[in-house]
Amino acid sequence: MGKYAQTCPIIYGAGTISLLGEEVKKLGCTKVMVVSDENISKLEAYDKGKKSLLDAGLKIVEFTKVLPDPPDYIINEGGEIARNERIDGLVAIGGGSPMDAAKGINVLINNPGSVNQYFGNPFYNPGVPVVMVATTAGTGSESTSVAVITDTVNNVKNSVIVNSTLGILDPETTVTVPPALTAATGMDAFAHAAEAITAKIPNPKSELLAKEAIKKVTANLPLAIADGKDVRARSELLLASNFAGIAFNDALVHLGHAIAHSAGSKFHLTHGVACAFALPEVMKYAAGIDSEKVKIVGEAMGISFSGKESSAETGEIVADAIRNFLKKVNIKSVSILGVSKEDFISITPMVFKDACYNFVPKEITREEAEGILGSIYDNYK
Ligand SMILES: [Fe+2]
Repeated sequence: MGKYAQTCPIIYGAGTISLLGEEVKKLGCTKVMVVSDENISKLEAYDKGKKSLLDAGLKIVEFTKVLPDPPDYIINEGGEIARNERIDGLVAIGGGSPMDAAKGINVLINNPGSVNQYFGNPFYNPGVPVVMVATTAGTGSESTSVAVITDTVNNVKNSVIVNSTLGILDPETTVTVPPALTAATGMDAFAHAAEAITAKIPNPKSELLAKEAIKKVTANLPLAIADGKDVRARSELLLASNFAGIAFNDALVHLGHAIAHSAGSKFHLTHGVACAFALPEVMKYAAGIDSEKVKIVGEAMGISFSGKESSAETGEIVADAIRNFLKKVNIKSVSILGVSKEDFISITPMVFKDACYNFVPKEITREEAEGILGSIYDNYK
């Protein structure tokens, strides 16, 4: 049996943030909480969003305290304010963290207690309409059915199951994203797509969208890094991020994200950077399971295969192409990030405990995991 989801409608294109207020009003909202973080709240995009909401006659309550990898206590604080203020809508303006925070707060609006009670639990009273304005191109959170939240009680990442109502993808809101963050978020989207294609339970819709996401990232990420104001490239990257989000929402991500979450939390690395450096070796691992899927990733990057390659050769060819691309977009290696090989390999037990490890297409032994981590360290310098 196969299954795929249809999540929320998307409005995209330059200047579409100006439609925010009217769109929120159409959803029946009168008083909305605007969820963002300190950095984004100082940007023009945030002011434009706020202006659009106010111009539409909506009342707003601002909550701009969201932290990266949003911790449970921030969600709980936001939820408490949202309940006390009796808001009837939520608007996130920002990257993955504000978007996930808004989704988490939405779980608390019509339910008692803390967000921690609802981790992995789809049975709760539905919240209010939640509209996402994505200001980075990477997470695709506007179109995924979960919000990833840091569970500070157990010191792990956890998630609540919740959808958005509408996403707005305006490339003009992403033109100020600096090159390093553009690269990291773009590679996060690439990793979502590549892991979705090579997933344990592949999905035809995921594959279609993931292929297109990889094509768009390969073609446009170097352009957006070279010229942040390239609105066309920014637009393509927002679509790539969205397509990859829809793709992994069904097919799920696996070993690369289990490694990235573990490395990210142990060494405080940017999520997209950790996803990026893990990916070449993860593609080699995936080629050992189903090399035809890894070929699809390579073909989306523009590689032509003769058809005579062994599985291992396919894996190596695609891994090599990804490594070259990572260099081109200046993704730092584990060693350049100042982590020793020994310390890097020490995350092995964390990889097995990460939720994404449950979705690996094939289980690996501890020795194999150590080997993959060692190769990530040695083969991309
Ligand atoms: Fe990711």
